[in-house]
This record gives sequence, C-alpha cells and structure tokens, in this order.
Amino acid sequence: MLSVARTISVIGTGYLGAVHAVCMAQLGHTVIAVDVDEDKIAAFAAGRTPFYEPGLDELLTETLATGRLTFTTDPAQVADAEVHFICVGTPQAPGEFRADLTYVYAAADGLGPYLREDALVVGKSTVPVATAERLRRRIAAAAGREAEQVRLIWNPEFLREGFGIEDTLTPDRFVYGVAEPGSAEAEADVALLDDVYAVPLASGIPRLVMDYPTSELVKVAANAFLATKISFINAMSEVCETAGGDVVALAKAIGHDDRIGAKFLGAGVGFGGGCLPKDIRAFMARAGELGADQALTFLREVDAINDRRRARMVDLAREACNGSFIGKQVAVLGAAFKPNSDDIRDSPALDVAEQIHAAGAQVRVHDPRALPVARAHRPGLDYRDSLEEALAGADVVLHLTEWQDYRDLDPAAVRGAVTNPVVIDGRNKLDPDRWKAAGWTYRALGRPNL
Ligand code: UGA
Repeated sequence: MLSVARTISVIGTGYLGAVHAVCMAQLGHTVIAVDVDEDKIAAFAAGRTPFYEPGLDELLTETLATGRLTFTTDPAQVADAEVHFICVGTPQAPGEFRADLTYVYAAADGLGPYLREDALVVGKSTVPVATAERLRRRIAAAAGREAEQVRLIWNPEFLREGFGIEDTLTPDRFVYGVAEPGSAEAEADVALLDDVYAVPLASGIPRLVMDYPTSELVKVAANAFLATKISFINAMSEVCETAGGDVVALAKAIGHDDRIGAKFLGAGVGFGGGCLPKDIRAFMARAGELGADQALTFLREVDAINDRRRARMVDLAREACNGSFIGKQVAVLGAAFKPNSDDIRDSPALDVAEQIHAAGAQVRVHDPRALPVARAHRPGLDYRDSLEEALAGADVVLHLTEWQDYRDLDPAAVRGAVTNPVVIDGRNKLDPDRWKAAGWTYRALGRPNL
C-alpha cells in the first residue's frame, strides 16, 4: 500500500493516541501503542475500544487482524520504532488555569532510554508554547545525549471527537514545527514524517513547516478561535433575547458571508469537552507567564459567555416550572458534551442537569451512549437508559445534546408521556413547527417565543 512503511510507536492511548495508532496501522505502518493503563491496553489488544468513537471498533478489529498493530504497557518495547508519536493528555491543572504537563514529561522520561539514535519523536499533545524545546532537552537528558542530537517535530492534532478517523486520515492540513526551519536536519526530519503521512499527503493535503513556537501556537490559536466563534454567536443570542431577535435566523444570515462562514455558529448551551474549555484557559495562563496576558483577556469573556448560557438554560427551565424546581420533574436529553461521543468532560448538559438537581428538582438524564461514563464519573444524577422513563411525568423537557435520536423523536408520540408538554431546545436543533403542531410549548435560547 505504501512505498515506505515505517515502524512507529504511539505513546498514550486516549482519544488522540488510540485513533492515531489505529489509523497509522491502517495506512500500512507497523505500530506499537503504549500506555500505563493496563485495563485500557488489555481492552485494545482484545479488539475493544474503551470509549465510543464512530468506526473505531471496526478499524481496530481490521488492523489488529493484519498483525501490524500491537499494544503494550512495557516502554522498552518501543525501542525498534523509527518514529514515536507523543499523544498523552494535558488536562487542566487542579485549581489552576494552566495545563498539567506531568504526562508529557513522563512520556519523555520513559522514552529517552529506548530512543534509537536515528529515531524521530513527534509531539502531538496540546501544549503551552515553549514545551517542544523543553521536551527535547528532557528526552535528551533521559537518553544521555545533547538536545541537538534528539530529532523532534511538533505536529499538532486537529481531530474532532466523533470524526476522529476522518480527521486523522484526511486532515485539513498538516503542521510540522521544527527546531531550525530550512536546516539540513529539519529537511531530513520532515522527509521522515512525510513518509509516515505519504498517503494523505499524496492527495494534496497542505503541509506547513514552521518553527516550534509557531506550531504550538497554531493549535491553541485554532481552538481559541473556535471557542470565540461559539461565544460570539452566544453573545448575539443574549442580545436577541433582550431585543426580541432570533439568533438562528441571524446566524444563518451572517453565515452566508464567506468571510464569516456558517460553521460553528450554532447558538445554544455552548462548548464543553476535554479541549476547548481547558485549552483557552491554558492559553490565558501561558500568555500571563509570558507577560502577554492583555492580548488574551478577551478569552476570559469567551469563557464567561459560555458559562452564562448554562445559567440561562437553568433560568428558562425554572420559568417553565413556574418559578421553583421543588417537587418538579425535569427530563434532560443528552449527557455527552456533543453528539456521537460518550465524552462527558465539562459537558454543558450535565452541568445544567446538576444545577437543576441542586435547586431541588428530580432530574432524569438520558443519553444514547454516554450513560455508563456518566454513571461512573457523575454519580449524583438519576440516569435512565430508556427515553420513555426519562420523559415520564416531566414538567419540562430539556434538549441539551443534539443526538440524531432526539431530532428524530416524534413529538406527538412522546406528548402523552410528560405531565406538561414544554420543551426547551438548548441546541436549537429541534424543529419548532413539528413540536408545536403536536401540542408542545417550544422554547429555545436566543429565540423569541415561537
Ligand atoms: C475541538 C476542535 O474542534 C478540534 O479541531 C480539536 O482538535 C479538538 O478540540 C482538540 O483540541 O483535541 P472537540 O472537542 O472534539 O474538538 O469538539 P468540537 O466539535 O469542537 O465541539 C466543542 C464544543 O462546542 C461541543 O460542546 C459542541 O457542542 C460545541 N459547539 C460546537 C457549539 O456549541 N456550537 C457550535 O456551533 C459548534
């Protein structure tokens, strides 16, 4: 399949690492994926993905069967690899805005002793600017070499959960950060990484080479822009609510302008997940350390707008319950931070559900995929596997994660299950006319009472 098949290691098997490992094996490379989590590695080796990502189970089974993909917890087993991808997580540090780099540094320390002299390390984790250079020195120290003797490219990842395979095999662009752009060493490193991505590159996907700091910034700048775009439309939503405008019509109208674009103008309860919220906070923290905090103060407002939408959703639900949640039943549709994922990290849906529960309502949460994870990590809520049970006797129904299942609901069929037929669309994705025609009161964020 490939002119040059390479031997690769992938360090870290979270969403990013697992998808990357499977996709690299699919491209024809020999891949060993390593993680400290024994249960996770055992699951992958047995052909089971420990989280939900559309298509990943199938591709895992397919690539395991080729014999090109293996999983291990033993760092020594990566010693043959020509290219090592660092894909570990960089969560928000507890009680702080900055990113916790513990796992990235542990990966560097673990890799150093087993690094072939000619091997290339490729960083994919989302990191604060200046981490690549530090990491290079750290790997060098662990390998007993000078930093210049460690080959490292920073190659940020732009994959969206739910589209991980597509975004890995056919990304919009490849970004390579190198130590010295234009040097012979950089050219050699770029050529080796080009071998790894030979198939997608052959289809004409742009590949941009730059210095380390710029490549690190590209990633956080992209996520900061996306978060800003969502909070911009949610700010318009707030204005629409006071001025009697309709944010859905507004978004559609401004989205026709190519310079603005219609994507990521979905107004609602805002962004969550393991990336956008923590990335904008880590970006602000890093800018502060660099003395450039003023440049990013607007991101504080982006974060605040996002939180306010959750609070507004709670207020709308309270209004629908005649001003008090005490003794009321609230059905919550959605637990994942977005559809086609079972990821509940910083989920707006669960945040809203918990606030309403804390205010005295009986809250029943449904989600097509995320309930096992939600039960394990946010055990305080009442989760229902069946939609009928979640809806039964509800005084108000909140649509908080736009799964296709909810859009496909027949409002007439579920009308009889609830006590009060009031639905509040926190994602602006239900069809108001259908719900109203079936006898429901339809409310939404940023829209007049339709
Ligand atoms: C995001 C970026 O989109 C990816 O490019 C990036 O690689 C990834 O973070 C990462 O850094 O790893 P992801 O977190 O999977 O990807 O989710 P998004 O699709 O960006 O959605 C983020 C949140 O924004 C979700 O809660 C979603 O519901 C919300 N959203 C999205 C809106 O509220 N409105 C929109 O119009 C779009």
